[in-house]
Amino acid sequence: MQKIIIAAVTKNNVLGNDGKIPWHSEEELKHFKRTTVGFPVIMGRKTWEAIGNPLPGRLNIVVTGNPDYAIPFHEVIIFNSLKSAVDFCSSAKREKVFFIGGAQIYEQAIESADKIILSVMNFETEGDLFFVKVDESKWLLNSTENHTDFAVHHYIRKPDLKLIG
Ligand SMILES: NC(=O)c1ccc[n+]([C@@H]2O[C@H](COP(=O)([O-])OP(=O)(O)OC[C@H]3O[C@@H](n4cnc5c(N)ncnc54)[C@H](OP(=O)(O)O)[C@@H]3O)[C@@H](O)[C@H]2O)c1
Repeated sequence: MQKIIIAAVTKNNVLGNDGKIPWHSEEELKHFKRTTVGFPVIMGRKTWEAIGNPLPGRLNIVVTGNPDYAIPFHEVIIFNSLKSAVDFCSSAKREKVFFIGGAQIYEQAIESADKIILSVMNFETEGDLFFVKVDESKWLLNSTENHTDFAVHHYIRKPDLKLIG
């Protein structure tokens, strides 16, 4: 199963501000939907609360450390650890799983993800939440697609030379 981070940031790496995404791009949202529809999406509890509704056409998975956390939508599954959410998707033989945020989820998922699909908007904004650093010794920028408001960078994990050699 491919584990894929998908995120959107500004040129200055802002992910969010005051609990929200501080821009709106229909084109970027379409790219997000096109890429993730049909696959499970894993999000942190704060991102779930910012979205507020299940994303259609995808298995929505929310992680929280609170064992009593409840969500009034039967199609949303809750796990109390990121690992148990990923293990569930893997045992269900899903081809891909997407980590869709927020910052806390990206910081943990980047340790084991296979790919990063990162939209970089064509502007800067103020923000209080930033995307985790993409370490160029571990990640290769494989391709970039240009859109009107943003560019999509596709990173793949470099092979672990220590394991090979
Ligand atoms: N620009 C983008 O692409 C993008 C995408 C998504 C979200 N965002 C923005 O990001 C912000 C939210 O990000 P955030 O970093 O503050 O929060 P988050 O990652 O969405 O959620 C954090 C919460 O997830 C739960 N959690 C995290 N790791 C866990 C683990 N290993 N096991 C169990 N539960 C775990 C905890 O919930 P409990 O506190 O309940 O235990 C934690 O407080 C929002 O502003 C949102 O709009 C931006």
